[in-house]
Amino acid sequence: MDYIVRDISLAPSGKLKIDWVREHMPVLNEIREEFEKTQVFKGVKVAVSIHLEAKTAYLATVLKAGGADVSISGSNPLSTQDDVAAALAADEIKVYSWYNATAEEYKGHLIKVLENKPDIVIDDGGDLVNLLHNECSSLAGQVIGGCEETTTGVLRLEAMEKAGILNFPMMAVNDALCKYLFDNRYGTGESVWTGIMRTTNLIVAGKTVVVAGYGWCGKGIAMKAKGLGAKVIITEIDPIKAIEAHMDGFTTMSMDDAAALGDVFITVTGCKDVIRGKHYEKMRHGALLANAGHFDVEINKPELQAAAKGTRTVRHNIEEFMLPDGRKLYLLAEGRLVNLAAGDGHPAEIMDMSFALQALSAKYMLENGKELGNRVYKVAEEIDKRVAAIKLKSLGTTIDRLTPEQEKYLYGWEHGE
Ligand code: NAI
Repeated sequence: MDYIVRDISLAPSGKLKIDWVREHMPVLNEIREEFEKTQVFKGVKVAVSIHLEAKTAYLATVLKAGGADVSISGSNPLSTQDDVAAALAADEIKVYSWYNATAEEYKGHLIKVLENKPDIVIDDGGDLVNLLHNECSSLAGQVIGGCEETTTGVLRLEAMEKAGILNFPMMAVNDALCKYLFDNRYGTGESVWTGIMRTTNLIVAGKTVVVAGYGWCGKGIAMKAKGLGAKVIITEIDPIKAIEAHMDGFTTMSMDDAAALGDVFITVTGCKDVIRGKHYEKMRHGALLANAGHFDVEINKPELQAAAKGTRTVRHNIEEFMLPDGRKLYLLAEGRLVNLAAGDGHPAEIMDMSFALQALSAKYMLENGKELGNRVYKVAEEIDKRVAAIKLKSLGTTIDRLTPEQEKYLYGWEHGE
């Protein structure tokens, strides 16, 4: 069998992790049953690059159950769990990934995934699609289309579409309601704090937490910080988002002002250099720096390194930077997404919806991709609604249905004074 994993003997531990999340992913379970019956992906090659932990592994097995020939790698050098990758290899899925890959190894793993010559691509952040448009364009011949998981990846795709260089249609799974309203907000909100707390073993209550970016992820992180008893400051570049943060009860200010006040800083903007040299000059002794945005460019690491007279690893995933005046700053998980590089990622119940969208969007792309133009598409409303309906059913929750009179009233124009 074709695979690159750190240690295949870790497979039993990875399998236990996958079995655990499967128990908490009822929507994906229902889709798995359907795929098993219909064999919708029979003979179809699906290339996947998503943070390789248990929920992603379960998605890969669901696609395989539907007949797909899956090849998979991680989407970040620090987020792969070696036992989970080994479990996939033992399940005869082509997996190429390991934790703590060098930049060269990481890219090599993505290329191995593409060498399977995919029909469908499932990407997280845009690295696979980018390779298919550059170095690996010779492997893109039979790509029908693909799906993108995160905000940063969708932005990259939209820029490619605008520049007229996108070579196949892509589905913006991130922009589905059942994705960003839950995954970005509640998933990131919870898992970022799980990651920070278990990495540092420090208290959040009473601390001043600075969240850079009040998008869907930032809202979740700020909401959970407040719930944990922190004082929360938001920094933004968008005046409307800043007002929203203000009305949600948070203090808003520029990073230049917040730098001197924070005990914990979390960047989640999709932008670069959000925290940089001039900010390190003002920070308090002991400040913790973490990133939850897709790439490790939000906290400027070269400038932090340059500002320090020495560094050392003080705990797993915590790097201490000693500044010349005696202050110490601490960078978590090398500035990579802290919830995945220093945690297990989002809760399984959240990824249940995100990956149900991925599975159904991949099916949609397979069935409709050839008729679509080389553009970025919204997930069809019926897919979003179906995922929500199955989730509600699994929660045992009911909702009301409109009576014919209510329907006429709501959508008609004849009523009123
Ligand atoms: P969003 O577009 O909803 O929000 C980003 C916010 O950051 C916007 O309000 C924008 O105005 C603000 N912003 C941009 N540059 C800024 C700067 N220099 N300073 C302050 N604010 C700035 O995006 P979303 O969905 O919240 O995603 C943010 C990042 O998190 C993306 O890179 C995305 O791919 C990633 N992401 C990470 C997840 C994780 O598990 N850690 C999960 C989902 C998304």
